[in-house]
Amino acid sequence: QVRRTTVPQIAQRKGGEPIVSLTSYHAHTAAIVDKHADFILVGDSLGMVMHGMESTVGVPLDLMIMHGKAVVRGTQKALIVVDMPFGTYEESPNIAFRNAARIMKETGCGAVKLEGGKRMAETIKFLTERGIPVMAHIGLTPQSSHVLGGFKTQGRDEDSWPLHEEDAKAVSEAGAFAIVLEGMVEPLAARITKQIDIPTIGIGASAECDGQILVLEDMLGLNPWTPKFVKVYGQLGPMIEQAVSDYAADVKSRAFPTEDEVYR
Ligand code: KIV
Ligand code: NA
Repeated sequence: QVRRTTVPQIAQRKGGEPIVSLTSYHAHTAAIVDKHADFILVGDSLGMVMHGMESTVGVPLDLMIMHGKAVVRGTQKALIVVDMPFGTYEESPNIAFRNAARIMKETGCGAVKLEGGKRMAETIKFLTERGIPVMAHIGLTPQSSHVLGGFKTQGRDEDSWPLHEEDAKAVSEAGAFAIVLEGMVEPLAARITKQIDIPTIGIGASAECDGQILVLEDMLGLNPWTPKFVKVYGQLGPMIEQAVSDYAADVKSRAFPTEDEVYR
């Protein structure tokens, strides 16, 4: 019986060996990621990556729960964190609790993640005090892309740094056990990482963070285009295409199925 990584174990990694994390949305890839990741995020990026949506704004709670269940079933070791989708937590701490509790009960995950700094601090405190560990997420917050005017790297203007620093302090003081810093210039990520005592998990936020996360499909080369901050570790897109085209050719030429694949 393997013991799953716990929330305090992640929190204690502050300043230590970097925390390894990836997203995963289904049982099969999650089982692979589970061998190497400290935590796995069932990110609402699944709306775009798996379901072809244009942003994460349209992702329903039930979809997060469905994918969350699959990832919990497929894993044994990593802490599983599930994103709260847009519209399920911003309105009030009570509504956030109701929806976060559903996610925890129905998926069996160990924590939830939500976007926002200072403005979400009260909710983070409310959830944490009632048994729901919260990972925060600041900087480039995709659920606010309509307000921000797209997906823009944060902190290019030094004048904006104090606001981001206040956000990080607020969620940390509210009880978040870790915080994702997304799309942020390196000096700002470094300052925040030094200023707070919970681990920072970077995505497009430099090696100054206490850990890193990437969208699995991005680093596997499954998307035709990836942003600058992604390092592509495997070219699965071209591999899948080759396999599918070999199969199509074999079917047409009757080279498949062969003797080996036929029942006699
Ligand atoms: O939804 C997601 O995949 C995320 C990560 C990129 C942090 O929130
Ligand atoms: Na997300």
